[in-house]
Amino acid sequence: MSKRLLVTGSSGLIGSEVCCFFHEMGYEIHGVDNNQRAEFFGPQGDTRWNQRRLQSSLANFHHHELDIRNRQGTLDLLAELKPSAIVHTAAQPSHDRAAAIPFDDFDTNAVGTLNMLEAVRRACPESPFAHMSTNKVYGDAPNSIPLVELATRWEYADPAYAHGIAETFTIDQSKHSLFGASKVAGDIMVQEYGRYFNIPTCCLRGGCLTGPNHSGVELHGFLSFLIKCNLEDREYKVYGYKGKQVRDNIAAHDVARFIHAFIQNPRVAQVYNLGGGKPNSCSILDAFALVEKLTGKKQRYSYVDENRIGDHICYYSDLRKMRAHYPNWDISVDLPALFAQIVDGWQQRSRK
Ligand SMILES: NC(=O)c1ccc[n+]([C@@H]2O[C@H](COP(=O)([O-])OP(=O)(O)OC[C@H]3O[C@@H](n4cnc5c(N)ncnc54)[C@H](O)[C@@H]3O)[C@@H](O)[C@H]2O)c1
Repeated sequence: MSKRLLVTGSSGLIGSEVCCFFHEMGYEIHGVDNNQRAEFFGPQGDTRWNQRRLQSSLANFHHHELDIRNRQGTLDLLAELKPSAIVHTAAQPSHDRAAAIPFDDFDTNAVGTLNMLEAVRRACPESPFAHMSTNKVYGDAPNSIPLVELATRWEYADPAYAHGIAETFTIDQSKHSLFGASKVAGDIMVQEYGRYFNIPTCCLRGGCLTGPNHSGVELHGFLSFLIKCNLEDREYKVYGYKGKQVRDNIAAHDVARFIHAFIQNPRVAQVYNLGGGKPNSCSILDAFALVEKLTGKKQRYSYVDENRIGDHICYYSDLRKMRAHYPNWDISVDLPALFAQIVDGWQQRSRK
């Protein structure tokens, strides 16, 4: 079978990384993106620069200007290409933005995912389908885990979570945000197309995914945006939880490596919590300290004594299932290296 990869959201953070990674592995790459991120977040979220980067640097890259909400267009493209693997990263990715644009959010995250799945079932049901889901499918249920307050971060008090949150955690009966709910719909559909039609699908429930090519904005991409604020001497707004809220951060490169491992050795209807795990977790206060150390610039910030609706207080992924299923995969970019790469990425872009 020819190595032909279809990537939706190819101009975004994860999509572009996947395009580069698989191109290096000898795949013919077909990217689908309509720069919807600029519609969602305004000019700061524009990803055309990344599309141009792929078009100029990858010889075997083909861009398709398609909206995944366009059902017929999606069915036609898959019928024409019959890719040997599909990576679905196109999404409305912001927790906070969704309430203002509920139709766009659901049509993209839930219906767009269904369009992709049905197109795959009709055109190439043997091809592995990796879907980017999110830890927001767990809603705010992780906030019910007892915590201890440390000097700069929250930590789980219950030893059952010493390795983080596993895939068995409940996704039900908690507050998700409209984004979390539309992603649950997509996530369950991806599992169902696996179980019901025996398509090799997986849902990757991401923690904080980031890297040097992230177009971080206030409403999405916390680490990328925080580092940008530091570099530009801009004030960063901290919302609630004393700035001690914890996130686990994973490099887009390690996400692409995992997707590659899955596609090489696919399973059916799997779910993985794909984050940086405990060693790559930090609070916002920890992140300020880390970036200050790198740039030598004090982080300016203000504190808003109200948390974002449904925001996790402490979340990091239990990576043990991923490691058990794919023992050759592990985190390769640790937290200090990730920070350094993001600083470098913003500096390079500001010079252009
Ligand atoms: N970045 C994170 O921290 C994070 C965390 C958890 C989960 N995720 C998930 O990972 C996936 C990728 O996230 P990302 O950070 O790369 O997002 P991103 O916004 O950088 O990339 C998404 C891309 O999809 C495109 N897109 C959006 N709607 C589209 C549509 N209707 N048709 C065609 N293209 C469309 C956008 O223009 C953008 O280039 C998403 O599903 C997101 O929910 C991301």
